[in-house]
Amino acid sequence: MNELVKLSREDDVAVITIDNPPVNALSPGLPEAIGAAIDEMNADPAVKAAVVIGAGRTFVAGADIREFGKMTSGATPRRSLLPLLLRIENSGKPVLMAIHGTAFGGGLEMAMAGHYRVASPTAQVGQPEVKLGIIPGAGGTQRLPRLVGVTKAVEMCAEGKPVSAREAAALGLIDRLIDGDLLAGAVAFARKIAGNPAPKTRERSEKLGTATENTAIFAAARDAARKRQRGLVAPLAAIDAVEAATQLPFEEGCQAEAKLFNECLFSDQSKALIHVFFGEREVAKIHDIPKEAAVIPVNRVAVVGSGTMGGGIAMVFANAGIPVLLKDVDEAALEVGMGKIRKNYASSVQRGRFTQEFVEERLRLITPVLNYDAFSDVDMVVEAVFEGMALKKTVFADLDRACKPGAILASNTSTLSIDEIASATSRPEAVIGTHFFSPANVMRLLEIVRGKKSGKEVIATCMQLSKKLGKIGVLVGNCRGFVGNRMFGPYRREAQFLVEEGAEVEAVDKALVEFGNAMGPLATGDLAGLDVGWRIRKEYRHLEKPGVRQPFAEDRLCEMGRYGQKTMKGWYRYDENRRADTDPEVSALVRKWSEEAGIPQRQISAAEIVDRCIYALVNEGARILEEGYAQRAVDIDIIYLNGYGFPAYRGGPMWHADTVGLPRVYERICELHERHGELWAPAPLLKRLTESGKTFAEFDKEQAVAA
Ligand code: 3HC
Repeated sequence: MNELVKLSREDDVAVITIDNPPVNALSPGLPEAIGAAIDEMNADPAVKAAVVIGAGRTFVAGADIREFGKMTSGATPRRSLLPLLLRIENSGKPVLMAIHGTAFGGGLEMAMAGHYRVASPTAQVGQPEVKLGIIPGAGGTQRLPRLVGVTKAVEMCAEGKPVSAREAAALGLIDRLIDGDLLAGAVAFARKIAGNPAPKTRERSEKLGTATENTAIFAAARDAARKRQRGLVAPLAAIDAVEAATQLPFEEGCQAEAKLFNECLFSDQSKALIHVFFGEREVAKIHDIPKEAAVIPVNRVAVVGSGTMGGGIAMVFANAGIPVLLKDVDEAALEVGMGKIRKNYASSVQRGRFTQEFVEERLRLITPVLNYDAFSDVDMVVEAVFEGMALKKTVFADLDRACKPGAILASNTSTLSIDEIASATSRPEAVIGTHFFSPANVMRLLEIVRGKKSGKEVIATCMQLSKKLGKIGVLVGNCRGFVGNRMFGPYRREAQFLVEEGAEVEAVDKALVEFGNAMGPLATGDLAGLDVGWRIRKEYRHLEKPGVRQPFAEDRLCEMGRYGQKTMKGWYRYDENRRADTDPEVSALVRKWSEEAGIPQRQISAAEIVDRCIYALVNEGARILEEGYAQRAVDIDIIYLNGYGFPAYRGGPMWHADTVGLPRVYERICELHERHGELWAPAPLLKRLTESGKTFAEFDKEQAVAA
C-alpha cells in the first residue's frame, strides 16, 4: 500500500479508501495498492467484509488519461487493470463498492468487479471511454451487459452518456441507494452481507439475451452509431466488444475487448479526442491571471437587443437561473423577441429537453423592459444590438450612464473592435467582448474578447461565468473577426474560389462533410445568411489590397437577392421545409461570371478541396497564434470544435495539422502560394516550426513554460 490507498477498520469491516485527488484516477501505483489492501483484509481473521470508497469529491473517475499518451508513445508499457479486477472479484470475503460523485470508465469497471455496489443518490456511473476515442478496456464491455442487459450496455458503452444512480439502481447496476452518510450506510450493508457467498459478476449470464434478440440489438446500434457518431471508430468497436460478451466465455470476451481497446488507443482519433479532453480544461487557464483570481458576483444581468442573438443570450442566463432584463426600443420589437423565446422553449418541451415547469420558471426570470431605469441594479450587461459601430457606441455611452460602478459591460459583437466600443465609456476596464454563437442557447462556444484595457477581474469573471452558463469560454484577442471568424474568412474564401475555378457547389460541401465537418462551407453560408458577410465586405472594401484576388460569386448572388435560406435561395435553393436542392441556375451563373473574369475552368478533386479549405484555416490560425490573439494552438482547436462543427476526432485544425505533419502541410501551402499568389503566403510561425521540426502542441508547451 502507499499514500494513495488507506486501509482502516470499522470493527469487523475493512474500509479501503482511495485518495488520489482530484478525481481518484487509477494512476500508476494505485491499482497495486488496492490489490495489496484486498489481500491484507483477506488475511485478517477479524475482518468479514470490505468497503471500497473514494476520498474527496468522487469515487474513481477512471483510468489516468494522462498515462495513455505515455503508453502510445512507448514511454511506459501498456498496463491492464484486468488482473486487479480479477483479484477483487476472487476475494474470499465480499467487497462492497461505495460510490459517490462519479464512477466512470475504469472506476465503474472496478465497481462491477466488486460483489455489491451502493451509491449516493446524486452519484453518476458510466463508460464514457468512446468520448476519448477508446472503449472500456478493463472488462467493462463484458461485465456491464451481465448486470444491466445487452441493450443498455450497448447504449452506455457506445454513446458514453452517464447514468444517474437512481437509474443504475433500477437497472440492477447499483444494489442500494444510501441517503446521508455513505460510508456508514455502506459499512452497515457490508455487515449484513458478510458471510454470504460473494456473487461474481463474470459468472452471471441471465441478462445476456438470446442470439436472435441480440442480432437485432447490435444491428440497430451499429446503424445508430454510423448516423449519430459519423466517422467515429470507437462506438462501433464498443458494440463489437459487447457483442463478444454475448458470444464468448468471459475470459475470451476480455481478450476480444483488449484487442479492440488497443486498436482504438493507438488510433489518431483517440489521440485527437484525448487532446480535446485536456484542451477543454486548458482553455480555462489564462497566462497572466491566476486560477484563484477574484471574480465579480454576477447575480442579475441585462441584455440589450431582443433579436435572435439577444433573445438566445437571455435564455442562456435564465437557464442558469440568473434573472435577466431584456431591453429593446419599442413594445413591438420586444413582443417579437419574447415570442421567439417562448417558441424556442415550447419546442424544447416538445423535444423532451425541458419540462413545462422548468420553462415557466425560466420565463419568469426574463423581464422585458423599454428603458435603462432598472440597469442600475445589474452586475453585467450583454449588448446584442445590430452590428454597427455608431449604434454600439451610443448603447455603451448609455450603459456607462445607467449602470453601477463595477458592472461588466459586454458586447456580443462578432466583428467590431472592443477597444473602440470601450472608448465610448468612461470605464474601458469594465468593457469586454462576449461573442456567443448562434443559436446562443444551443452552441457551446463563447469567445471572450479581451480589449486592451479589459480588467483582469472582468476577464476572470467572464471565464468562470461561461462554465456556469454551460458554455466553454475561450479567451481571444481583439482583432478583426477575433479568432473563429477571422479564420473562417479564408476558409470560406477558398470554398468560393474553388467554385469559381470549376468545382460544383455540392462537391465542395460534400468533400468537407466527408472530411468530418458538420456542414459544408457554402451550405453554412446559406444558413447564416450570405448578406451578413456581403455587408461586412462592403464596409471593409477599402482595406482590400489592389491586385489581390477576391471572391466575387457570393457578392453577385447577394446582389440578386439570394441571401441563403432566409430568401429560399442562395448557393442552393430551398423548399418550405428548408431542404436544400442543387440549383442549376447558380452553376450556370458562376460558370458565366468566371469565364468573363478569365478564370480557367478545370476538374477539381475532393482532396484539393479539403487541402485548400482546411489549410487556409491552419495558415490563418498560425498567424493568429504568432500575433498573440489566441493563447495556445489548442484554444483555436477548441473554438473550431465547439463553434464551427470541426470534427472532434480530428482534434481541431491545429492538431489536425500536427497529425498530418507540419512539413507536409507547409509544403502544400508553399505549392498553393506559388500557384494562387499572396493570399497563400505561409505563416511565419508555420515555417519556423516546420524548419525546427516542432509541432503546434510543442509550441503550446513552450509558451506554457515561458508564462
Ligand atoms: N485522468 C486524469 N486526469 C483526469 C481524469 C482522468 N480520468 N479525469 C479528470 N482529470 C483531471 C482533469 O484534467 C482536471 O485536471 P486540471 O485541474 O489539471 O485541469 C482535473 O482532473 C479535474 O477535472 P474536471 O475539471 O473535469 O473536474 P469536474 O469536476 O468538472 O469533472 C469528471 C469531473 C466528471 C470526473 C470529469 O473530469 C471527467 O469526465 N473525467 C473523465 C472521466 C473519463 O473519461 N473516464 C474514463 C477514463 S478512460 C478509462 O477509464 C479506460 C478504462 O476503461 C481502462
